[in-house]
This record gives sequence, structure tokens and C-alpha cells, in this order.
Amino acid sequence: MGKIHFLPAGKTIRTRPGQSVVSAAAAARVVIPQRCHGRASCLMCKVVLEQGELSAPTPMEARKLTAHELENGVRLGCQAKTTQRDCAVRIPESRLKSVVQAALERARRENAEEE
Ligand code: FES
Repeated sequence: MGKIHFLPAGKTIRTRPGQSVVSAAAAARVVIPQRCHGRASCLMCKVVLEQGELSAPTPMEARKLTAHELENGVRLGCQAKTTQRDCAVRIPESRLKSVVQAALERARRENAEEE
């Protein structure tokens, strides 16, 4: 039994080999966006393998992800499976959340400068 660590949530749980990353995330109460229920079509469940090992990319992942993404550890959470070894995966922040946070930070700085 290995462990999977989710970033940036900082949660770790034990997994059985062959468990999907999405399934492990749900067990750890970590949200990975998804819309296609694991059919590898929405591409919303992308995660980045930061450390350790996951199963080899499936033919479906090889078709859906670019070579650059695969080289950089990007995987589809619904297709990638855990192994006996520990791993750490990063769930990329949504673009909308990043834009909103940047706007809030800018507003905060402007307010601080006015005072
Ligand atoms: S859940 Fe849609 S691609 Fe993985």
C-alpha cells in the first residue's frame, strides 16, 4: 500500500495499487474538477505528478495530452492509477481562481497605497 499526497491541499492518504487519482482524491476529500465521469473527454482532471510514481500513461492519455504535458508529469486524474509506491500530485489552480485572486491582490495594494 502506498500513499498519495495532494498539493496544494496538503492532504495524504493511503491508497491501494490501481486506484485512480480521482478516486483517491475523493477519499481524501480533495476536489479535482471533472465533468465527464472519468471518460477522458473533459480534460478537467489534469494533475501534475510532482514526486514518486503513478501507472504508465494510458493510450487514452497519450492521445489527449501533449508530449510536452506528458514530459512534465501532467496526467489525467481519472486515468492515472496509484502503484505500490508513494507519490505527490499537484492539482493546478483554476484559471478563474487565479484571475480573481490577482484582482483582489491588486485592489488590496491600491487601497493600501491610498491610505
Ligand atoms: S474526468 Fe474528464 S478527463 Fe478525467
